Amino acid sequence: MKADLIVGIQWGDEGKGKIVDLLAQKYDVVARYQGGHNAGHTIVVDGKTHALHLIPSGILNPKAVNIIGNGVVVSPEALIKEMKQFDHLLGRLFLSESAHMILTFHTLIDQAKEILRGEKAIGTTGRGIGPAYSEKIARAGFRLGELRNVPALTERILEYFIQNKAIFDALEITLPSREALTAELTGFAQELVPFLANTTQMAWKMMDEDKKILLEGAQGTMLDIDHGTYPYVTSSSTISAGACTGLGINPKDIGKVTGIVKAYCTRVGNGPFPTEDHGEIGERLRAQGREFGTTTGRPRRCGWFDAIACRYASRLNGCDDLSIMKLDVLDGFDEIKVCVAYEVNGEIIEHMPLDLEAATPVYKTFAGWDKTEGVRRFEDLPATAQTYLKAIEELTQTKIGMISTSPDRNDTILL
Ligand code: GDP
Ligand code: IMO
Ligand code: MG
Repeated sequence: MKADLIVGIQWGDEGKGKIVDLLAQKYDVVARYQGGHNAGHTIVVDGKTHALHLIPSGILNPKAVNIIGNGVVVSPEALIKEMKQFDHLLGRLFLSESAHMILTFHTLIDQAKEILRGEKAIGTTGRGIGPAYSEKIARAGFRLGELRNVPALTERILEYFIQNKAIFDALEITLPSREALTAELTGFAQELVPFLANTTQMAWKMMDEDKKILLEGAQGTMLDIDHGTYPYVTSSSTISAGACTGLGINPKDIGKVTGIVKAYCTRVGNGPFPTEDHGEIGERLRAQGREFGTTTGRPRRCGWFDAIACRYASRLNGCDDLSIMKLDVLDGFDEIKVCVAYEVNGEIIEHMPLDLEAATPVYKTFAGWDKTEGVRRFEDLPATAQTYLKAIEELTQTKIGMISTSPDRNDTILL
C-alpha cells in the first residue's frame, strides 16, 4: 500500500501535529523524514497538551509504530529526553541507523554563526540543524548507527576536531576531552542502540504487507532549502519530495498528499513575509491564535492568508487536498483579507517571485463572522465562513478536505 503524506504549506506551525495525531488512529506507522528538534508539534488530547519535537506525532496512538527516518537529524540528547515522557517505546519506536546526529558542537556552531550574522541572522532555533545537515552534505557527518561502536566513533569525532581546529578556535568553541566524549557517547549508545533499525527495509516490508504508513513532514514549504525563501529557510527538503530521500521510498510509493495550512499566516524567525501585519491585526491574531513557538517560545509574526504562496506550495507538494487549520482564530473579525496577487516593481504578478522581499500583497476582502470555534459540521459554519473557505479552494486550486476549529482532536470538520 502507498504511504500518505502530511506536509506544512506555509512557514511551519500550521497544526501538522494535530492532524497527524488525528489520522494516526487509522494508520499502522507514522514516520518523520526530515528536520530535527527544531520542529515543535503540539497535540491536545482530552485537555492535555503534548509537545513533540523528534518523536512522530503517532506516538499518542498506542497501536501505531513510529519511525524516525534517515533524513532526520537527531540530537541523541534531545531524543533521550523526549523518550522519557513515554513508557514501553521498544517495538513502537524505530530509529534509522543512517540518520545523522546533532552533537553539542553542531549546536554551538549554529549559535556562534547566528551571532556573527548580526542583523542578517536567520533566526534559527539554535538547535544545530544547519551545521548537522551541512556536515552530512560535506560527507563529514556522524550517523546513529555508529553508536554501535563507541570507541571507533570517538576516534572519528576526535579526528574531526583536529581537522577543524582552526574553525573551533575562531568561534571560541571549547571541545570535550576524550574521556568526556566517550562517557557521553556511551550514555547515548545505551539508550538508543536498542531502537536502531534499517528503517528503509522496514518501510518497504510494511508497504508490501499492505500496512498503512503516514509520513509526517516538519517545518513548512516556504522553509524548504530549495523552494523556500532562501537563505531564510531551514536546511532540509521540507516538501513532499523530501519523504523519498528521507525514508528511502520511491515517488510511486507516495499516495495521498495533504497540505496543512492555517486560515491566516505566521512565521517565526527572520525573512520575507509579505502579508505580515505589524499593527493591531497582527497582535490580535497572535493573541487569539496563541502564536508563540512550541520550541523556542518566540512570538510568531502574524498576517493574512497568502493564496499565492499557498497555490505555489500546493503545486510543489502535489497536494490532493488542504486541511484548513485554526479557522476559529479569525472569529470576531469584521473583515478578513486574503492576498490574491503581489505587486513587484509596479507589476502585478500571480506567482512566487525569486525575491519575495520586493513583493507587496494585493488583497481581496471578505466579510467576517462571529463564531466557528468547536464547529464540527460544514453546514453549521456561518455563511460568511463558508464563502471564505470556498474562495480559498478556488484561489489555491486545491480542494479542502478538513477544517479545524480548535486545538482538540475532535473539533475537526471532515469533508
Ligand atoms: P505544527 O508545528 O504544524 O505541528 O504546529 P504547532 O503545534 O507548532 O502549532 C499549532 C498550534 O495551534 C498548537 O498549539 C495547536 O494546539 C494549535 N491548534 C491546532 N489546530 C488548531 C485550531 O484549529 N484552532 C486553534 N485555536 N488552535 C489550533
Ligand atoms: P514545525 O515542524 C516554524 C524556522 C526557524 C528559522 C528557520 C531556520 O514546528 O512547523 P533552523 O533551526 O531550522 O535552522 O531555523 O526555520 N523553523 C521553524 N519555524 N516551525 C518549525 O517547525 C520550524 N523549524 C524551523 O524559526 O526561521
Ligand atoms: Mg510547530
